[in-house]
Amino acid sequence: MTRSWTDLDDFQNFIDGGGIVEAVDDMPDDYRAEVFRFIEFHANSELMGGLTERDWIPRAPGVRLKQIFLAKTQDEIGHAHLLYQVAADMGFKDRTQMLEELFDGRSRFHNVFHYQAVTWADQIAIAYLVDAAAFASQRAVFAECTYGPYKRVLKRIISEEGFHMRHGEEMLLRLTEGTETQREMFQAALDRWWWPAVHLFGPDSDPNDPLLRWKIKSQPNEQLRHAYIQKYVPLLQSYGFRIPDDNLHYDDTFDGGKGAWLTSDIDWEPLKATMRQGGPDSRRRISNAAANYADTAWVREALQRTGAAA
Ligand SMILES: [Fe+2]
Ligand SMILES: [Fe+2]
Repeated sequence: MTRSWTDLDDFQNFIDGGGIVEAVDDMPDDYRAEVFRFIEFHANSELMGGLTERDWIPRAPGVRLKQIFLAKTQDEIGHAHLLYQVAADMGFKDRTQMLEELFDGRSRFHNVFHYQAVTWADQIAIAYLVDAAAFASQRAVFAECTYGPYKRVLKRIISEEGFHMRHGEEMLLRLTEGTETQREMFQAALDRWWWPAVHLFGPDSDPNDPLLRWKIKSQPNEQLRHAYIQKYVPLLQSYGFRIPDDNLHYDDTFDGGKGAWLTSDIDWEPLKATMRQGGPDSRRRISNAAANYADTAWVREALQRTGAAA
């Protein structure tokens, strides 16, 4: 049954009362547009993340890690396609259009996928820091998430991301028990990935952010970022690594004496550059993704001929 609301106040009351919107509902245009944009961005990010994992399958050391990276690649590409389906059902663009816009460089995706993974230790830093940051922000969306189809897909995504995060912890713990060279490799990777991981949460939220008002996001960006920093600074330091921030310090007086780790003022310019496809590795990543899409056209054609494709 299609539900509709008399005006935005009526819709807000529905949301505030714990209502869940479904794809068939006659939702307000702004809600539909904002939620679509958010899900499309998430879908693009999963796809670009999956392609990064794929790049490292041949270079993963040993069969066990190759199998794990193969599984992670399948997970991420699967997340992307579930999300593209949810986004397509919102009626703005179909999946092919979203993919073509991504490969043309017209769509946005998470900042972390605009950087280059230089060594295997970067893959560990990505699994440890970036998967954890993505997990934290996705879990915060899932906590309320008033758009039903997105919430149901997030449930599955989060459970798989939980494995990715744990695997990142396992890889990091093994590496910390390794040689001095391995530890130096991870420190160099941490120097490259710390700030992009912190940036992933985005700048402070506008208090009027409609995604907060409509309970797609359950917490403002700065709260999630703060919690992440409180967790990962002491963990990384306890493993003997240095956070690449000369002004990082613990402030005992923060929040009425509760105390907190505080970073330097964050330079958001690198994040903004990635949103213009101007990150250090944006061009190569987008063209690789486009080439991958072209290379796999025969699979889609074969499926269409057999009537198996949607
Ligand atoms: Fe994912
Ligand atoms: Fe992941």
